[in-house]
Amino acid sequence: MQILRWVSKVFLICFAVSVFSVSVEAEEGSQSQAPICFEADRVSLLGFKSKILKDTTEILASWVGRDCCGGDWEGVVCNPATGRVTGLALQRPDKENQMYMIGTLSASLGNLHFLEVLVISGMKHISGPIPESLTNLNRLTQLILEDNSLEGSIPPGLGHLSLLKTLSLNGNRLRGQIPPTLGNLRNLLVITLARNFLSGPIPPTFKNFTTLQSFDLSFNLLSGFIPDTLGKSQNLTYIDLSNNHLSGTFPISICSLANLQDLSLSHNQLTGTIPDQIGSLKSLTSLQLSDNKFIGHIPASISRLHNLWNLNLSRNGFSDTLPVIPSLLSVDLSYNNLSLGTVPDWIKNKQLSNVNLAGCKLGGNLPKFTKPDSLSSIDLSNNLFTDGISSFFTNLSTLQSIKLSNNQLKFDLSEVQLPDGITFIDLHSNQITGSLSSIINNRTSNFLEALDVSGNHISGGIPEFPEGLSLKVLNIGSNKITGHIPSSISNLVELEMLDIQRNLITGTIPTTLGLLSKLQWLDVCVNSITGKIPTSLLGIKGLKHANFRANRLCGEIPQGRPYNIFPGSAYAHNLCLCGKPLPPCRGKNQAKMGQ
Ligand SMILES: *[C@@H]1O[C@H](CO)[C@@H](O)[C@H](O)[C@H]1NC(C)=O
Ligand SMILES: *[C@@H]1O[C@H](CO)[C@@H](O)[C@H](O)[C@H]1NC(C)=O
Ligand SMILES: *[C@@H]1O[C@H](CO)[C@@H](O)[C@H](O)[C@H]1NC(C)=O
Ligand SMILES: *[C@@H]1O[C@H](CO)[C@@H](O)[C@H](O)[C@H]1NC(C)=O
Ligand SMILES: *[C@@H]1O[C@H](CO)[C@@H](O)[C@H](O)[C@H]1NC(C)=O
Ligand SMILES: *[C@@H]1O[C@H](CO)[C@@H](O)[C@H](O)[C@H]1NC(C)=O
Repeated sequence: MQILRWVSKVFLICFAVSVFSVSVEAEEGSQSQAPICFEADRVSLLGFKSKILKDTTEILASWVGRDCCGGDWEGVVCNPATGRVTGLALQRPDKENQMYMIGTLSASLGNLHFLEVLVISGMKHISGPIPESLTNLNRLTQLILEDNSLEGSIPPGLGHLSLLKTLSLNGNRLRGQIPPTLGNLRNLLVITLARNFLSGPIPPTFKNFTTLQSFDLSFNLLSGFIPDTLGKSQNLTYIDLSNNHLSGTFPISICSLANLQDLSLSHNQLTGTIPDQIGSLKSLTSLQLSDNKFIGHIPASISRLHNLWNLNLSRNGFSDTLPVIPSLLSVDLSYNNLSLGTVPDWIKNKQLSNVNLAGCKLGGNLPKFTKPDSLSSIDLSNNLFTDGISSFFTNLSTLQSIKLSNNQLKFDLSEVQLPDGITFIDLHSNQITGSLSSIINNRTSNFLEALDVSGNHISGGIPEFPEGLSLKVLNIGSNKITGHIPSSISNLVELEMLDIQRNLITGTIPTTLGLLSKLQWLDVCVNSITGKIPTSLLGIKGLKHANFRANRLCGEIPQGRPYNIFPGSAYAHNLCLCGKPLPPCRGKNQAKMGQ
């Protein structure tokens, strides 16, 4: 995808340059005769415009008047000599999220016989099929219809567009099999069909893509084997087949791709071992094989890959031992069959940005990284660490994300000195003691977005929440926290998840909780909370999960969505809650009780 974006950027630059030169030529020619667009092409363009029912990009608003080539029609490029339309490039401005077109692609596009470049991308709501008529556009070198909502199957006739260099249909809703005829596209440099619902096999005809540089079929429903003929496309630099249902073994022919930089086969059902020949992928910078069923050793030859900076082998069955990989910046070996015991020295002593070694049977003291100032994320969860927290965070000045959950760490929260820029902290299921006020106080970083300290032995009360925090997730469940919920909870305006279940919390639910309009998940079950469920909670419109079970609540449940349609079990084992989904309150008295 990265590469594709790069390719399309380069292409757009070329395109812009050609637009520029066209307009220069147009100006030079204007003394003699202004280029007037070919009438049939104008009609075809207006045919396209007529099927776009809404256009918040306002690009098509510029398509007025007789001369589609004069430069006023945004996105239209002509041959100045003939007035024929040679390029149509409609792209949503990169960051403008509100912009889109609603409609379908008119078959009249297929009448633009001189079209070499067709780009309609990022319009989000252009639906309906890819018109068959596009298969007539035999001068096309670029066909880019990314990030719309196109439906139906890929027209097999696209395989006739023999000059095509770039075919990109990613981010649509295309279904069915990839037509084998696409294998006829001998000049293809880039093919990306990612993020659709394509199924069936990768066509065996794809072996003739000798010029191909970038191959992206990720995020589809493809099944069957990866063709072992991929190795014939010697110019491939980028392969992404991740997030499909592909099976079989690692195709050994891939190891002959001397130019390959990026290989992702993550999230498939691939089996067997990784061939030792992988060491011949001299250009490889990123190797992602996570979430498959690979077994055996990580081949020692991988140490010879001197450009490899990103290695993600997580969630497979790889077993010991781990070779030294000198060039890495990011390593993820989580959840394999590795028993590393301690973090290898070469990882502790390297300048790394991501270290993910969850579930690697690591124990003893948490590691001391000797070059801590490059690390941005660390995942050491699901290991057997017992100690070493007090110096662990020292000098991890750029750390953003830390996961130490499911270890046997025993420490008091007051021993922890968190880095300033930290956004994500997961310490759940350890043996942590102390009070939350060590972490949540008026010095808490505004960058902190998620804090999970559930399943520990934390005591004391819930501290006041200062203004300005960005917390989205707060999970303090299954501890020994006492006292009440402070009404300053409403300062957590970004909060999406609040879980305080299974503590010793008393007092009432503050009415200010209803001000947390982004809340989606609220769990206060198994505490000793008293009083009513405040009707102010009706202000939380997007709540998807709530659990008030096993408290001492009483009175009428807020009678409105979603509270009256949650299952009754969400309110069970309280003092005297009533009203939908529970039985009606018996008269005004019960409804008012708890106030
Ligand atoms: C692939 O190439 C071979 C020879 O290079 C040719 O015989 C065959 O017809 C081609 N297949 C396709 C689908 O283009
Ligand atoms: C592969 O790329 C090289 C260098 O860009 C180029 O000269 C060569 O023609 C390409 N090979 C094929 C089969 O396209
Ligand atoms: C490794 O890949 C998995 C997805 O398969 C992803 O969740 C994880 O974040 C990746 N690790 C790193 C360090 O990027
Ligand atoms: C896990 O690793 C151990 C030793 O490293 C090995 O004996 C065992 O067969 C491996 N298990 C699987 C399922 O690969
Ligand atoms: C942290 O960094 C400072 C300054 O670079 C250095 O003096 C100190 O020894 C480091 N502390 C640890 C525990 O590495
Ligand atoms: C932070 O809180 C402490 C204790 O509650 C208080 O003494 C201090 O003045 C507060 N600092 C700021 C900057 O608000």
